[in-house]
Amino acid sequence: MGQVTKMIVDKDFQLAKVDDRLYGAFIEHLGRAVYTGIYQPGHASADEEGFRKDVMELVKELNVPIVRYPGGNFVSNFFWEDSVGPKEQRKKRLDLAWRTIESNEVGLSEFASWCRKVNSQMMMAVNLGTRGTADALNLLEYCNMETDSYYANLRRQHGVEKPYGIKTWCLGNEMDGPWQMGHKTAAEYGHLAAETAKAMKAMDDSLEFVVCGSSNVEMPTFPQWEASTLEEAYEYVDYISLHQYYGNREDDTADFFAKTQDLKNFLHSVIATCDFIKAKKRSKKNIYLSFDEWNVWYHTADADNDKMAKKPWQTAPHLLEDIYTFEDAILNGLILITFLKHADRVKIACLAQLINVIAPIMTQPDGPAWRQTIFYPFLHASKYGRGIALSPVMSTGTHDTSKHSDVTDCESVAVYCEEKQEVTIFAVNRNTKQDLSFQADIRGFEGYQVKEYLVLESEDMKLVNSLQNSPVQPKSRTDYEMADGIFETVMKKCSWNVIVFGK
Ligand code: AHR
Repeated sequence: MGQVTKMIVDKDFQLAKVDDRLYGAFIEHLGRAVYTGIYQPGHASADEEGFRKDVMELVKELNVPIVRYPGGNFVSNFFWEDSVGPKEQRKKRLDLAWRTIESNEVGLSEFASWCRKVNSQMMMAVNLGTRGTADALNLLEYCNMETDSYYANLRRQHGVEKPYGIKTWCLGNEMDGPWQMGHKTAAEYGHLAAETAKAMKAMDDSLEFVVCGSSNVEMPTFPQWEASTLEEAYEYVDYISLHQYYGNREDDTADFFAKTQDLKNFLHSVIATCDFIKAKKRSKKNIYLSFDEWNVWYHTADADNDKMAKKPWQTAPHLLEDIYTFEDAILNGLILITFLKHADRVKIACLAQLINVIAPIMTQPDGPAWRQTIFYPFLHASKYGRGIALSPVMSTGTHDTSKHSDVTDCESVAVYCEEKQEVTIFAVNRNTKQDLSFQADIRGFEGYQVKEYLVLESEDMKLVNSLQNSPVQPKSRTDYEMADGIFETVMKKCSWNVIVFGK
């Protein structure tokens, strides 16, 4: 069984308060995320506005505090005016990002209403691809202002008296990517982002801004893009975005699980770049990280490219409908642990995406909604991972994989929730060959006992859930020992473990 993994968890080992927005998500006008996803008038579970109640129930179960909208690549040619006002007058538009037809049946006001129903806030992206500062200002006025002025009055004419009050704004999307409509150089983008944030702040200085970082860590312009952009925009923005998707194309599970080493390096590089510019500017302010697109994404990529090339201009086609495996759920658990270990700098993270499109929640247009494998680590982290992130003292074995060395067998973090008097350990045994003896010393939490021990375990890494059958589900384990503040168990190889202690 190899080396025993030991951890000491103590109230005094505090890293940072976990920002609830670490459990954010993303909904883009893409594929069936919106149409036949959140919205399907005529469906058996549709409410009076056409929103699927079965979907809303699952979103509420995940307790998602913030949802990034409306894109993604979609936003870079989005004309927000088309998505407001009487539905019958709304223009159908070509969406160039995904080569589909956007009906605009769901727009700003409908999405704001949906967000209220699922207890989420909107994180709104502006189009800095094919549009610019003036349009962003008009949109902000329409969304947030109570003034007697053109766009605020237009909103009232559209029947929305109370502004939406959107606090967090994304200054475009992946502007470093050559695939982006209106792609820009770092200098062009940095200047535009700074000027747009400056102008929007002039309308409302309580807003927060996310400036675009690189589209992924492999971009040739990373991390110079971050440095150049922040040179321009540092004083006007609060967060820089990070995006990263993972895949197991080589069918090498051990190496797939090691990919959060790359994620850790990515986070450290972006933090270092932010702090370099902070030092250069003699600034007192920190820039925080908004990891506003993360997930596994590769299962359907080739088929989707083919579909967009050969059958473009459909409405709400099946796109990016990855069906997730057991091992994908484990990787997502590892990603969540990595974010929690950096809770001092990562303040926002959005699982990309939420419904049907690379999503934990799937829908049948003529049937119910169901949970993918990746639903569960997110659910557990969102439920038990709010409070103060602790940095436990850890010792665990290591192994090498095809492309990574010194990979820790056990990845783990703990979160203390003072209000509920609970401390939760999240742990993944990412060793694909061996179960692992695990020992946690929680004597610092006097009188705490195990309230719940939840796991995701499977021998079959490719196991998937479907509408008919959900073999990947958390189960409770009782085969552990707890005496004098020491918890002991054997963690199965390739397993996700959530141990909740309470008084
Ligand atoms: O989430 C799917 C796409 O991935 C988004 O539209 C884009 O921002 C990213 O490349």
